[in-house]
Amino acid sequence: MTQQPREQWATRAGFLMAAIGSAIGLGNIWRFPAIAYENGGGAFLLPYLIALLTAGIPLLILEYTIGRKYRMSPPAALRRMSRPAEVIGWWQVVISFVIATYYAVIIAWAIRYVGFSVGQQWGDDPESFLFGDFLETSATPGVISSYVPGVLWPLIAVWVVVLAILAFGVRRGIERANKIFIPLLVVFFVALVIRALTLDGAASGLDALFSPNWSELTNGSVWVAAYGQIFFSLSIGFGIMITYASYLGRRADLTGSAMVAGFANSSFEILAGIGVFATLGYLATAAGVPVGEVASAGIGLAFVAFPAVISEMPLGGLFGVLFFSSLVIAGLSSLISIVQVVVSAVQDRTGMRRMPAVLGVGGLVALVSIVLFPTDDGLFLLDASDHFINQYGIALAALVALVVIAWLLRKLPALQQNADATSAIRLGRWWRVCLGVITPLVLGWMMVDSLRTEFDENYEGYSTGFLLTAGWGVAVGALVIAVILTLLPWKAGGEDIDLDMESPAEKEER
Ligand code: ALA
Repeated sequence: MTQQPREQWATRAGFLMAAIGSAIGLGNIWRFPAIAYENGGGAFLLPYLIALLTAGIPLLILEYTIGRKYRMSPPAALRRMSRPAEVIGWWQVVISFVIATYYAVIIAWAIRYVGFSVGQQWGDDPESFLFGDFLETSATPGVISSYVPGVLWPLIAVWVVVLAILAFGVRRGIERANKIFIPLLVVFFVALVIRALTLDGAASGLDALFSPNWSELTNGSVWVAAYGQIFFSLSIGFGIMITYASYLGRRADLTGSAMVAGFANSSFEILAGIGVFATLGYLATAAGVPVGEVASAGIGLAFVAFPAVISEMPLGGLFGVLFFSSLVIAGLSSLISIVQVVVSAVQDRTGMRRMPAVLGVGGLVALVSIVLFPTDDGLFLLDASDHFINQYGIALAALVALVVIAWLLRKLPALQQNADATSAIRLGRWWRVCLGVITPLVLGWMMVDSLRTEFDENYEGYSTGFLLTAGWGVAVGALVIAVILTLLPWKAGGEDIDLDMESPAEKEER
């Protein structure tokens, strides 16, 4: 099989929309507000901003540069840089595979909740509705005993939409979809935030979110949380941005695009914090309790606290439709990018055409998602795999990638030169210091800190057996599968993949 000519984004705006669409996702809407609140409120914004500037944007620039320079998805791009580095690329691909399988499930729940919002079908008790009536969660984590049709069919719908968009390709599928998704998301979300800010008690919610608890800044786990949030939220460390940048033209501006994407994502995140906490302020005021009592993390925030507010407020149904539709749209544009990593990685190493790759590889991701998650054990599987793949997948792979690229291969100066050649904003030494020193140190500290917690007590009190399969098993399995994929005798990648050199086009340009 011969290599197909690589697709390209039609416009810079198209690429930026897709990159921002990937970044803004479930992580912004439900994860950020809760994490900010738990980690010092207003004071969290300082470590968050430092994480954005020292790790988020520098890594975004690094991933854009690798993608644009080598014009391949992570395994082939890193192999071009240095043959053994291919394993890091596959590791990121497997991590994306795992994340995609459960990320789709949360979008499926949100689809159902758009409908549930209309008649407030959760009744008086959103919590037992979620875990009992809707998810039919089993009593024992680790045992799958029944399927949950109410999750199965929206999940199938999510996968049909995602695979259909990917089948149309980068320009006609991903780029076009994001040009619809992003403006729609902004309109929905801004309407929601304006409504939230006009609710009684909104100010007390914002007070709770933004009152700085400065003493938290001396707590290491607050810094760990800030860096973790930036990685997930900016879609860095799992190969997405390398993949998306591989479809850029050779003259594309990289540093400017990274700044725009990084700040757009964080602005949306802070807007989400404002919207969510204004709403929680209303709920707390109505119930006569402090905001801390109604603020919960993750699933509880979106699928328990929000339904409670929706039942309470005038025109709550409309508010619910806006909120859950925003989750669906933000989630879909991120999921597309996550699955594209897996599809394009296999395409690049086999020369397979897009359609069979989307159906075969994307279909496999969909199949695993559909088999495992719409079950009575789905919630526990999701929770454990999410925690472990974030801590010992994304963050660990990013640490290894940085040590290899900055210290073993010493590629940062060459990559900096490559980025500078076409970017309006030139990178200074700070970029190499952030990537070569600050971020690896923080990530290393993150590893030690979270491993210590892991060995102190079982995550969420789950049984050791369950964690060994759905938690550690998934994280270690991802690395083992990556090694196997690296060793496979891929056929059509072509010899050029081994060469760390500029292509003739690049040489001509210089
Ligand atoms: N960056 C995506 C999110 O925030 C994955 O959800």
